[in-house]
Amino acid sequence: TWTMQSYVDTAVKQIRDQVGKDRVICALSGGVDSSVAAALTHRAIGDQLTCLFVDNGVLRVGERDQVQKTFASQLHLNLRILDRTNQFLDRLKNVIDPERKRKIIGRQFIAHFEEESKKLKGVKYLVQGTLYPDVIESVSFRGPSATIKTHHNVGGLPARMRLKLIEPLRELFKDEVRVLGKELGLPDEIVWRQPFPGPGLAIRVLGSVTKERLAILRAAETIVEQEIRAAGLYRDIWQAFAVLLPIRTVGVMGDQRTYENVIAIRAVTSLDGMTADWAKIPNDVLGRMSNRIINEVKGVNRVVYDISSKPPSTIEWE
Ligand code: XMP
Repeated sequence: TWTMQSYVDTAVKQIRDQVGKDRVICALSGGVDSSVAAALTHRAIGDQLTCLFVDNGVLRVGERDQVQKTFASQLHLNLRILDRTNQFLDRLKNVIDPERKRKIIGRQFIAHFEEESKKLKGVKYLVQGTLYPDVIESVSFRGPSATIKTHHNVGGLPARMRLKLIEPLRELFKDEVRVLGKELGLPDEIVWRQPFPGPGLAIRVLGSVTKERLAILRAAETIVEQEIRAAGLYRDIWQAFAVLLPIRTVGVMGDQRTYENVIAIRAVTSLDGMTADWAKIPNDVLGRMSNRIINEVKGVNRVVYDISSKPPSTIEWE
């Protein structure tokens, strides 16, 4: 009978046979797919694998630390964390158009990944977390850079760098990948992580992306996630997040008039992200999120809940 343990044994053997004594690189995002692919490859070839994690400056609170803790401290995997925050944010300065944001982030990612991996001698393979559904149907997103799903971030790389691909999850569906991740000892925070777009918070700070606006969004985002988890809804909801709108509205605090930012909360249920329904989150949970965001996040005086489904809306606002 087919068990996850026998899948691991078979995959480990295959990866070892394929790779021999060569070196392998992997773009680790902290998402489920790249994490499980990296952990499985590490199980097979240990230190022959090097993972690169690029901090693009538009990550959520604690994301980079989580990857560092799980993969370097716990799994003892060769991990290089590249802090490229300033480079990404410089390029994003005054960029408003969502597709341009995507293109800039995709290109920057490839440039930094390529530069760093050139420093590693003798690399012949690239690990990718391609799943079975990605193999049978090409998942497409809006716009030209839309082919960049988390694990497609390395899009042009294999050919450019003359790397051969290792895709150890090619036969698996998402739910099987999660079981495999548990089998490999990955923590629930990674195995059950909700999808997060490659362009990160840049497409959730609507309009111009600045450090100040990112800080506001991060604080709101953290509260949304905490309250969703506290209500026991995290696994039932496909994605729940905050969006910082490019407008200000009037409010009142004490006897002072305020003129501050608006946060939109977006939460959807979905099976595959292709269609989605707005999540019927209990009112008290919404109320807590709103109160906490307005009280705890400086610069926000209003919270709205997005009640649109996909189609015709999309999950992200940009
Ligand atoms: P939309 O907004 O198109 O999103 O309904 C569907 C799913 O895709 C994610 N998404 C992206 N993921 N790069 C990514 O890696 C992108 O440019 C991108 N745009 C949207 C979105 O978070 C949702 O899960």
